Amino acid sequence: MPKTLHIKTYGCQMNVYDSERIAEVLAPLGYAPGETAEAADMVILNTCHIREKAAEKVYSELGRLRIAQEAKARRGERMIIAVTGCVAQAEGEEVLKRAPFVDMVFGPQTYHRLPQMVAEATRATGHVLDTDFPEESKFDALPEARTVDGAAAFLAVQEGCDKFCTYCVVPYTRGAEYSRPAARVLDEARRLVEAGAREITLLGQNVNSYHGEGPGGGAWTLARLIRAVAELDGVERIRYTTSYPADLDADLIAAHRDVDKLMPYLHLPIQSGSNRVLDAMNRKHTTDDYKRLVDQLRAARPDLALSSDFIVGFPGETDTDFEDTLKLVADVTFIQAYSFKYSARPGTPAAMMDFQVDEAVKAARLARLQDLLNTQTLAFNRSMVGRTLAVLLDRPGKKPGQMAGRSPYMQAVVVEAPAERINTIQAVTVTSGGPNSLLGRIDGAIERACA
Ligand code: 5AD
Ligand code: SF4
Repeated sequence: MPKTLHIKTYGCQMNVYDSERIAEVLAPLGYAPGETAEAADMVILNTCHIREKAAEKVYSELGRLRIAQEAKARRGERMIIAVTGCVAQAEGEEVLKRAPFVDMVFGPQTYHRLPQMVAEATRATGHVLDTDFPEESKFDALPEARTVDGAAAFLAVQEGCDKFCTYCVVPYTRGAEYSRPAARVLDEARRLVEAGAREITLLGQNVNSYHGEGPGGGAWTLARLIRAVAELDGVERIRYTTSYPADLDADLIAAHRDVDKLMPYLHLPIQSGSNRVLDAMNRKHTTDDYKRLVDQLRAARPDLALSSDFIVGFPGETDTDFEDTLKLVADVTFIQAYSFKYSARPGTPAAMMDFQVDEAVKAARLARLQDLLNTQTLAFNRSMVGRTLAVLLDRPGKKPGQMAGRSPYMQAVVVEAPAERINTIQAVTVTSGGPNSLLGRIDGAIERACA
């Protein structure tokens, strides 16, 4: 009897990537993906700790799972419950104390050891806790075969962070920066293409700080890696995320000019438009540095569309600081952005800072910022009407007869199309643009992605 595995993924794309790899590690043990958690033989919560009561949400989800686990036990069946991701890393043993029915807690760096952990857990020798930062890299120990779900795939090239922004848990939960050797990345890219990928997003918490070992020795930059991935047959589109502005070098800017397959969309978090706040955040760039960078990128690739992250209500942020953020957004223009209220993360320097901002003030600032950002997104989406874009259709749409995909600028695009067009790049003429997506009509297939 095949066993079923249900993975619930929270948070960033790195977690999505990790969940796929976890499923691949467990496949040889007989675990196949299952739709519902309640019926599964193993449920894994891949958690995120970046903001807001993340741990509490995990505990309430665990409470629900416990009921399903007990119902299964009454039928003489077993449900293994595991917690991984950044909450597991941050909370460690605390998870097992608060939720003793959890069988395994493991950090994002140890899931290559899952077969061992599962063996220990199924022998019911007690709980398994593995939140080390091991010497060996998980990437060296993961199975080589890759599966892809749709034509757009993620590929982790770098992990961890040494930047220590004062609000952020990532350097503690994901550990120090590590770049995979270029040859390993290229091998995985080839395997993704064989498995059906046409678009590859290179992932890293600080992806543009990539400095993996090159095949002939010496370190490769991200730009060099992108150029090499672009050479691979079958790769049609390349993206990368997430970038740290101060590490974005001339080489990468040049890649945006030279590499056609590199999509004209860049997620480049700035966090705040106030230099005082950026300094308190320990960001190593000013607003002028950021604007200069954007000018250089747009000179290299005039249609480059930008997205960003913002935090409002960082400790000490004044009305004037916040107005500076609005001004920056008005100046730079983002086609899309994520904005958050500052949330104090235990153990980070900012959590101990004076002048924490009142929740109501944070909420009011967030609403104003999001209004402005939404206006920019809508204006950009509307400006697409009448244009023909190369859309990679990678999933069925919500309504029957529809397919959905992404434009070069990462916009969600919905078209009427027969199901066999899945995983193809189509020329789509945009007929309308809304706040969250574009509607369009297929005008023909195009072989190479172009904006
Ligand atoms: N509070 C609010 N937002 C945060 N982010 C990271 N840490 C925090 C925090 N403590 C946001 C940043 C980052 C994104 C992934 O999450 O904007 O770029
Ligand atoms: Fe966190 Fe800053 Fe590192 Fe991004 S660069 S992961 S915000 S510490």
